[in-house]
Amino acid sequence: MPHIDGMATMLDRIAYAASQTARVGWFMAHYSAGLRQLKPLPKPQFPVGPFPNRQELLRDMRALFEREWSDIAAGLLPVPRTLDPDPVAWLRRSILYFRDLPRVDERRHARVNDEPDVAAYAHLPRYYRQNFHYQTGGWLTEESAEVYDVQVETLFTGAADAMRRRALKPIAEFLQGRNQRSMRLLDIGTGTGRLPGFVQHAFPGLRIAGLDLSRPYLEHARRTIGASSRLKWIEGAAEALPFADASIDIATSVFLFHELPRKVRAQVVAEIARVLKPGGRAIIIDSVLERDRPEWKGLFDLFPYYFHEPYFTDWVTSDPEALFAGYGLVPCATEIAFLSRVMVFERAYYHPEN
Ligand SMILES: C[S@@+](CC[C@H](N)C(=O)[O-])C[C@H]1O[C@@H](n2cnc3c(N)ncnc32)[C@H](O)[C@@H]1O
Repeated sequence: MPHIDGMATMLDRIAYAASQTARVGWFMAHYSAGLRQLKPLPKPQFPVGPFPNRQELLRDMRALFEREWSDIAAGLLPVPRTLDPDPVAWLRRSILYFRDLPRVDERRHARVNDEPDVAAYAHLPRYYRQNFHYQTGGWLTEESAEVYDVQVETLFTGAADAMRRRALKPIAEFLQGRNQRSMRLLDIGTGTGRLPGFVQHAFPGLRIAGLDLSRPYLEHARRTIGASSRLKWIEGAAEALPFADASIDIATSVFLFHELPRKVRAQVVAEIARVLKPGGRAIIIDSVLERDRPEWKGLFDLFPYYFHEPYFTDWVTSDPEALFAGYGLVPCATEIAFLSRVMVFERAYYHPEN
């Protein structure tokens, strides 16, 4: 039983600390083992800024978990559910991840990033048909969906889910005093559906939809997270959301914006503003910006060099608050959560386009 009268117990705290520590240890081991398999790339021929040291990164990661725990202890959030808990499935995914690494590395050295740009995917936008991160299959195969969670958790050494879950606090605050059973949440660019999985556990009354352009990723989400009359997976484009005007109470999006060209990013913001009800919330989580961490500029310089990320630099040097405000989405809170920026916007009652 996770809670007694809505309050976390000492046992919950021990279980939380143990499970997060084990997770971080597991994916740190993936990170170190992966590094040993990769062939070094030539030294970059452009200026590279300073890097955080290991202690700074660990300090920020610890702060992320401490903040989550204090929200749990305050009774705002439940102890997180273990999504997709089958250890055999995770072991299989780890094996697939390590088997695939040499292919990713080959692509990285040859700078090959357009393999999904083939006739079978001609119906999808051109910017989408790339091997983001040099990953095998881009966003478009079952194999890619199967190893995606291991790739992301390895990159963030076990803290990716905790960063995603920072969306839960502004959702909880929004829902206070409201009837969640009459509320709809849309997660845009949902991928393997991790955030909807956590949202469903924390707020079981909400009606949730996870939207993505990738059918294999949605199928993976359906299989591993589940589906019900209150949790649906929808194939569609973020820049043309298949929802009526003012029909959504909360729109979320995690790690999508840095994958979009600037023009498409603006279209997606316009769509979020259109589908949100006045007073509704948009909660966007993506990479921290350069201005958040100027002392870590080296990370921003090198990430797109090691991973195929054609729009990342444009994102980390952009001004999301100004972009969202231009579509009537008023910035109301920002949290820096380890390597992520959690931004909360409220859909103004007055919308510039109506
Ligand atoms: C980096 S992944 C993030 C996935 C997930 N939100 C997470 O927390 O890991 C980006 C996801 O956005 C999807 N995506 C990219 N462009 C999209 C678009 N224009 N419309 C809908 N989904 C898109 C991709 O298929 C992929 O699943």
